[in-house]
Amino acid sequence: MKNFIRIILFSFVMSLGYWGFSNYGIPQIIPELPPVEEEIGGSITMPQYIALGKKIFNGKGTCTLCHNPVGGRAPLLDVAGKDGPPEGIRAEERIKDPRYKGKAKNGVEYIYESETDPSAFVVAGYGKPGTNDTVSPMPQTNKGSIGLSDPELYAVIAFLQDAAGVKVTVNLPKGAPATAAAEEPAKVTPAKTPEEAFTKFACVTCHTIPGIPDATGEVGPNQTGLATRAAKRVKGLNAEQYIRQSILTPNAYVVKDFDPDVMPQDFSEQMTVKELDMIVKYLLEKTG
Ligand code: HEC
Ligand code: HEC
Repeated sequence: MKNFIRIILFSFVMSLGYWGFSNYGIPQIIPELPPVEEEIGGSITMPQYIALGKKIFNGKGTCTLCHNPVGGRAPLLDVAGKDGPPEGIRAEERIKDPRYKGKAKNGVEYIYESETDPSAFVVAGYGKPGTNDTVSPMPQTNKGSIGLSDPELYAVIAFLQDAAGVKVTVNLPKGAPATAAAEEPAKVTPAKTPEEAFTKFACVTCHTIPGIPDATGEVGPNQTGLATRAAKRVKGLNAEQYIRQSILTPNAYVVKDFDPDVMPQDFSEQMTVKELDMIVKYLLEKTG
């Protein structure tokens, strides 16, 4: 269990764009981004592009929030798992699946389609409850709060092909887009509004939150009506106390029909007191 929590902690720290590595003593195993000058003019090399894809996969793409070995919420991609060989190989097989009705003609196109239109093909057993595997719970990673650009989406594909040990068949980006793709994630500063906080901590990727247009996630409970039910969740805790506990120690009470260990367990180390207060106040006042 301790290990599980550590893995979640690890992937989440990375999903925040690596800030805090030195603060939390997590060993840096991700290759350094290539120096910025080398991307300008599109002179990025394939190994650099793959390293960028790995960084996006673990970081701003938020892929490892779901595609990780802990929660079982999504198929493993960079390594083999119960859903088959690594995605770089599996993608080629998906398009031959009799259930496949998408437009992709090869593995690269399949992964790109998964990133931008996740419901085009839903891996059996992972669809949104009640949809008979026709609707994916995965967000479109080229839109909303994740918002990856094409060069970033293809960098992730290059990384997944490389991780699978197959030939990398994506093209290197040319000129300006490469520079855009290689931009460092913005320095993490304390959020000033609840909207910013929900995005910064990726709540929006997993939760639907009333009044927050980007928050359309469906991995965790929809927060509509939270303030009302929070008062009744745990004997002895009022609504505010329950919401605080849900954020700081999510496994203390696991909502029925959801799994433990899916929500990051280390928000107490990531958030400032002000950010936490702002989030709790919003959830208490705006979710009804
Ligand atoms: C909120 C959770 C979530 C996030 C974030 C997420 N995914 Fe997914 N993804 C899923 C789930 C669940 C599935 C399985 C259902 C389906 O096929 O859509 C899936 C399926 C996929 C598939 C198809 C897998 C297969 O076996 O064919 C690919 C490729 C993929 N995701 C790539 C990504 C990438 C790349 C990112 C980050 C840029 C990402 N996902 C972010 C939940 C997520
Ligand atoms: C990787 C997905 C994920 C992320 C990111 C995430 N959550 Fe959750 N959250 C869940 C899941 C799954 C549950 C249900 C299981 C449980 O109770 O732990 C949950 C439960 C909750 C609950 C309890 C809801 C209820 O009905 O009792 C609250 C409140 C909550 N989350 C708030 C947040 C906030 C605020 C953030 C961002 C700071 C956040 N979550 C980030 C997945 C996530």
